[in-house]
Amino acid sequence: MDWNSFFNPYILPVTPYSPGLREEQIREICEVDTICKLSSNESPFPPFPSALKAMAESLPLLNEYSDGSSHALTLRLSQHYGVEPEQIMVGNGSNELLCLIAQSCLTPGDEVVYGWPSFVVYRSSAQLAGAKPVEVPLTADGVFDLEALATAITEKTKLVFICTPNNPSGGVVSGAAFEAFINRLPDHVLLVLDIAYTEYIEDEDSFDPMRYFDGERPLVILRTFSKMYAMAGVRCGYGIAPKEVVTAFNRVREPFNVNSVAQAGALACFNETDEVERRRAINTAGKQRLYQCFDELGLSYYRSGANFIWVHMSDAAQRFDQLLKMGIIVRAFPGANGLRVGVGDEAGVQATIDAFNELFGKRQ
Ligand SMILES: Cc1ncc(COP(=O)(O)O)c(C=O)c1O
Repeated sequence: MDWNSFFNPYILPVTPYSPGLREEQIREICEVDTICKLSSNESPFPPFPSALKAMAESLPLLNEYSDGSSHALTLRLSQHYGVEPEQIMVGNGSNELLCLIAQSCLTPGDEVVYGWPSFVVYRSSAQLAGAKPVEVPLTADGVFDLEALATAITEKTKLVFICTPNNPSGGVVSGAAFEAFINRLPDHVLLVLDIAYTEYIEDEDSFDPMRYFDGERPLVILRTFSKMYAMAGVRCGYGIAPKEVVTAFNRVREPFNVNSVAQAGALACFNETDEVERRRAINTAGKQRLYQCFDELGLSYYRSGANFIWVHMSDAAQRFDQLLKMGIIVRAFPGANGLRVGVGDEAGVQATIDAFNELFGKRQ
């Protein structure tokens, strides 16, 4: 077999996703017993009690396929957002939705515009389709630069991804910037607004993207149960999209793309608004403590609307290794001058502060 010419050439530029170290690998490296995994922007808390209960109750039915249309969840979402069920798409994580939206509309030569650094799947989903990724630097505050994004759009642009709060910088697009952008978006472009971390925003200036959704405008709003709702392991995300986009998605998705445990858990999350508030407040308090620590140590960082903070440092790879040995697992990106530090629970935040103080100079 000639493997060199065997594969689809469009998959070759794609860098496989690097999931980080496994628990047992970490145990080998760490010099402490308590490990804080702050590398994947997960919730430090378990799924909500009502979701756990619903998921446990769904287990005996795992001999059956899941509901291939995610019917109950789709209906619940359509009621929640006041849209038609045909305008809802449910996926195996919002990751699947990103990939399948790209797969369903891109052909070789198309262009895909997004800010960078951002979520790696924007790049890989473009590459897999043979489309050209057009990567636009973030603003100095780590926010998607929507003016520069608008300028980068050409006749060939099919898709624009906007991520707010952005992963990995945490920067939040303002309502005014979004409004100006969407008003000048040409109508041959589909805008995919990825707001995976939106529940963590505490900024007054944030906006409700549903204001711009009318079912006609080429706008998809993507959300997930993985972050605030703490269900990353079961995989469930959804999109609010024009019917045409949902129909295209249904052509390319797997028949049973969302498992029954995820559907049950997601449905149970809707009544948990108090718990969302409580967890947001804990995250915000954690961020404040971390900002204060970084300020005292003279480290610069982006202010974040999410559950992680990007800390600038020129020796990121070395600092990553040092933190790892101390049981603090953060995220390093090849060649990047900084580390993405997740906001843990209270103990996790304290452990992060202790480790940073020890590493960067301040002793208790
Ligand atoms: C910005 C962003 N979008 C989407 C996702 C995908 O989330 P999921 O597939 O778990 O819904 C992630 C995951 O980290 C993310 O950071």
